[in-house]
Amino acid sequence: MTHLAATAMNRAAHMWDERYAEPGYAYGKEPNEFVRAMADWLPAGPVLCLAEGEGRNATYLAGRGHAVTAVDSSAVGLTKAVALAVERDTTMITVHADLADYVIEPGAWAGIVCVFCHLPPALRDRVLKGAVEGLRTGGVLLFEAYGPAQLALGTGGPKDPALLASLADLRPLLEGLELVYAEEVTREIHEGRFHDGPGATVEIVGVKR
Ligand SMILES: C[S@@+](CC[C@H](N)C(=O)[O-])C[C@H]1O[C@@H](n2cnc3c(N)ncnc32)[C@H](O)[C@@H]1O
Repeated sequence: MTHLAATAMNRAAHMWDERYAEPGYAYGKEPNEFVRAMADWLPAGPVLCLAEGEGRNATYLAGRGHAVTAVDSSAVGLTKAVALAVERDTTMITVHADLADYVIEPGAWAGIVCVFCHLPPALRDRVLKGAVEGLRTGGVLLFEAYGPAQLALGTGGPKDPALLASLADLRPLLEGLELVYAEEVTREIHEGRFHDGPGATVEIVGVKR
């Protein structure tokens, strides 16, 4: 990684630390609605939650019996994730890492969950290809992120269009998965104070073949 890229990433992590240092849970304590709706797709076994923030999805899935590992570059977010796990009487492993550096172990995961993780294109491509590699046969990727149409709605998510991938952008990265569900949707999102209102997202359920 170049020095400039590393500086930009440190700045981004600092921004998330500041957000998560505010009182309450920025995206709520309840799981993302798409994760809740699709959780039955996840086979038994270990689940990796990428860019998991304050742990709402990780603790929900741990409560369903998965051994969960949550990765995020915000130490403040992960500290709150651990507190939420204690509150919910569950446990998980947290990994404080930038996804630019984190290596997803190939063939290790029954499920990988990636929710509202808006990365620069080159890193997004690398992480999603790594996620496909990281799934066991029969393992499942649950993915939801804001898409390009979200810019006009302004109800949350990044303002930089480069961070907003369409389904067409994502499909080539997911070779090796059977996409049993893959849609661009507009749905009501009320997930904390930063995601509030109609949101245009890309939702994907992919099964490793
Ligand atoms: C909008 S929040 C979503 C958090 C969580 N997935 C959820 O749905 O509640 C985006 C998260 O991505 C994390 N993130 C952004 N860039 C990252 C990177 N390069 N490596 C690791 N985490 C990153 C941030 O720290 C933040 O927690």
